[in-house]
Amino acid sequence: MSQGNTQPSKVQTTGHVWDGDLQEYNNPLPNWWLWGFYLTIFFSVAYWLAYPAWPVGKGFTTGMATITYKNDKGVEKTTHWNTRALLMKDLQDAREFQKKYFDRVAAMPYDQIAKDPEMLNFVASAGKVLFADNCAACHMSGGQGKRGFAPSLVDDDWIYGGTYDKIQETITNGRHGIMPVKGGANLNDVEIDNLANYVLSLSGESMDAAKVKAGDELFHGKAACFSCHGADGKGNKDIGAANLTDKIWLWADVPGAGSADKQVEAVKAVIAAGLNKGVMPAWSGRLKADQIKLLTTYVHDVLGGGSKK
Ligand code: HEC
Ligand code: HEC
Repeated sequence: MSQGNTQPSKVQTTGHVWDGDLQEYNNPLPNWWLWGFYLTIFFSVAYWLAYPAWPVGKGFTTGMATITYKNDKGVEKTTHWNTRALLMKDLQDAREFQKKYFDRVAAMPYDQIAKDPEMLNFVASAGKVLFADNCAACHMSGGQGKRGFAPSLVDDDWIYGGTYDKIQETITNGRHGIMPVKGGANLNDVEIDNLANYVLSLSGESMDAAKVKAGDELFHGKAACFSCHGADGKGNKDIGAANLTDKIWLWADVPGAGSADKQVEAVKAVIAAGLNKGVMPAWSGRLKADQIKLLTTYVHDVLGGGSKK
């Protein structure tokens, strides 16, 4: 019989025939597959030569590829390629990237940083880390502060002033607000009660009119509260004497008092005991000048409390 008749189509055979009609097809691998296969062989050999690959005794073949990086002391090192060196190189790149931006922060005036979205982006991310490490323990992570402990940095109310210069001065040298016991005058309980009523009336609370009048006279007279808090009660940023008219209370827990009587008690307690616990540490010895400048921008422009006042 002729082979042609038993062939289903034009498939090649190897030419061998067994048992009369048993044949072997010859299906060569497609070229694209073969070349792909050769390529993987070539690639693996190249890879073994370039990179650490085979265990040898207690070590391994290191390969010919090298990697050069500067360690954190700035010393340049070249070694065979390995993931640890790769990490060191990434860290070096990150350090150089940060330094570039810190140098720009140091060189730029504050108002220019605030107008530059790229710089503000950097301030927001690097400032967040610095703030979390150094400031959040007292001012809380979002800068919202905590009554009786540390002021909010996100409102536009400033004990010492919210300009760049004042904020920088605060962070560099620290602050320590002191109010003498009973304002320094020898006040009795009735007088303190009258003063507390007057102080609360400054914040718009409706208080006993007679007590407010008596407190007003004391405030501007014998008790001399005005000498620090100003005749209008709006405070004095040079010595950190609080603004008593802004409804913002750092030490007297007026918002948490619950009742009108308790509000008076809260203010009385502060006047009677004085204040000496508001200590903002100085950072000049702990942070570098460019870090303080970055934090100043962070407080002013990112936390959003920054004011022109
Ligand atoms: C140990 C707690 C503490 C830490 C830490 C701290 N602060 Fe303060 N900070 C205070 C207190 C308390 C005051 C208020 C001082 C006063 O009333 O006399 C203050 C005041 C301030 C003010 C002035 C606010 C105003 O209204 O004028 C700024 C700005 C400030 N801190 C920023 C920072 C920054 C930035 C850091 C981190 C580098 C920081 N603080 C770390 C406790 C702290
Ligand atoms: C020598 C200056 C000085 C005198 C005098 C003085 N104060 Fe003060 N007072 C301060 C300072 C400074 C603070 C803020 C302290 C701080 O932030 O750590 C303050 C804070 C206060 C507060 C707390 C405000 C808050 O946000 O909780 C009240 C209330 C107050 N003073 C009322 C008075 C009254 C009333 C008198 C008069 C009897 C008086 N002060 C006299 C310096 C003074």
